Amino acid sequence: MEIKKGLEDVYVKETEITYIDGELGRLYYRGYSIYDLAEFSNFEETSYLILYGKLPNVYEYENFVKSLRESRGISDRVKEFLKGVKKNAYPMDVLRTAVSIMGLEENSHTYSVSEQSIINLISKFPTIISYYIRLRRDLEPVEPDTSLSHAANFLYMVNGTKPSEEECRAMDVAMILHIDHEMNASTFASLVVASTLSDIYSAIIAGISALKGPLHGGANYEALKMFREIGDVENVEKYILNRLANKQRIMGFGHRVYKTYDPRARILKSYAKLLAEKKGGEIRRLYEIAEKVEEIGIKYLGSKGIYPNVDFYSSIVFYALGFEPEFFPTVFASARVTGWIAHILEYVKDNKIIRPKAYYKGEIGRKYIPLDSR
Ligand code: ACO
Repeated sequence: MEIKKGLEDVYVKETEITYIDGELGRLYYRGYSIYDLAEFSNFEETSYLILYGKLPNVYEYENFVKSLRESRGISDRVKEFLKGVKKNAYPMDVLRTAVSIMGLEENSHTYSVSEQSIINLISKFPTIISYYIRLRRDLEPVEPDTSLSHAANFLYMVNGTKPSEEECRAMDVAMILHIDHEMNASTFASLVVASTLSDIYSAIIAGISALKGPLHGGANYEALKMFREIGDVENVEKYILNRLANKQRIMGFGHRVYKTYDPRARILKSYAKLLAEKKGGEIRRLYEIAEKVEEIGIKYLGSKGIYPNVDFYSSIVFYALGFEPEFFPTVFASARVTGWIAHILEYVKDNKIIRPKAYYKGEIGRKYIPLDSR
């Protein structure tokens, strides 16, 4: 009997979706290098690839894009919920509850996944998130614009103005890089639920709940908080040494699979740099602090195989694109929902309920003593 804490190195299924080479720092979606997809593809095309296993032809692509664009609107019930929720609620909790309302509206309590529920989930996440962002800012929510791409429309709904080409590209690439990542904690959580043949919304809610944690998708928010706390490039080394001495983690560093630089962080760094140069001010200052944290972090942790992960520079990219830090994990979720769905579809095709074991090491045969005699 061997207990694999954190299920480290345990395979739960075969997959044809994503391959990670953690030693060499390489990542492939359906066999295509993430570098090629980040250079040539967009969120819609890569989502199609992840879901259906091949790049779409023109007809398939246009149909998929059209369905996504036409399904962006959210129901009055979801809008009423977003208007009523307190303004300081944690955005991942708000997203989780909004998706739960979507599930109630579809009223499917057991497993069945229609094309429309896939499209609904992917297309509506950004609308829910931006609707709540605008309400928190005391601004009117912006309705989706069907003439814009998924990434451009997301930024438009958040900021109320059409994004520049650079901003669109940065958002598109950031979303591509977050679509899937093999058997991470949130994907596994959604698979556990789907494997009981519960409905897809419940499985996605499990994914959101797991992604929220600071050791997973919540790390982008924590990374930005850390850059702000540091305040100045001069303070970086002292801050990092102090944190390590206190057994605290460097947020946005380290990964269960990568023992080298996460390729997603490498690509995001170039966009963070570009946006920092364009926008200047606070964004440039935070980027410079992040670059220094990277250098010092690698100096002290690199020998243990601990390097920047996806959440490190995505924090700067999301911030530069207009998202408040608390919303970063929701942006991550809005891309990862595609990966969760793809893994659910792949697993349930040949389903077996996920039911591991726990090794019992307590007493057995204890004598029950009535309450008044204890
Ligand atoms: N800063 C400092 N030390 C670290 C860090 C870090 N970010 N990450 C790991 N370590 C150290 C641990 O303290 C431990 O040291 P020890 O062996 O001396 O006790 C060793 O590296 C191994 O760490 P584990 O927690 O056992 O590694 P695990 O694979 O379980 O954890 C994780 C991976 C959770 C990502 C971890 O690296 C971490 O907490 N990172 C910070 C949070 C973060 O950025 N999360 C996002 C990950 S990417 C994603 O989920 C999208």
